[in-house]
Amino acid sequence: MAFNLDRFVDACVAAAGGADPVERVRQLLQAALAETDLGAALPASQEDETLLHASAKLTVYGLRLTPRIHYPPHDHRMVAVIGLYEGVETNSFYRREGSGLVKTALHDSRAPEVFVLPADTIHSVANPGRRHSRAIHVYLGPLTRIERSVWSSDGLQERPFDNAFYFSQARVMGD
Ligand SMILES: [Fe+2]
Repeated sequence: MAFNLDRFVDACVAAAGGADPVERVRQLLQAALAETDLGAALPASQEDETLLHASAKLTVYGLRLTPRIHYPPHDHRMVAVIGLYEGVETNSFYRREGSGLVKTALHDSRAPEVFVLPADTIHSVANPGRRHSRAIHVYLGPLTRIERSVWSSDGLQERPFDNAFYFSQARVMGD
């Protein structure tokens, strides 16, 4: 069956309000990634992030990460289910130490891959590849409406999340 964004979002909204929402959304993303027309079925955007859906129980973004970009650390304060369907992505994970962050782990992903980020995750995302990476990010809550944190690119300064600061802290990865 061809991928349909409205149908996918409806299924995720239903899953978010039902039993075992994380596992159900993970399965829905896994099924979406198995569709060969997924990339073509999503809205074409020249932005790195496109908001596809926002409601009380669910937020969905389409991501298209610029090659070699590294975004700053941030949290979500809700579960995120990531479906990488094109390219590569590196997630760095952190924990608080004093007023800053220390890196605790690194996870390299290659499409197709679905993974779950627990609600207390602090991470940063980078595209180490030479092509755009593309992913669907599903958050189990109203991500655009909550208070959360972003850090300066060096992880030393925590502040309330805002998009302008987040994008201002993006850095080009060194070779
Ligand atoms: Fe994130």
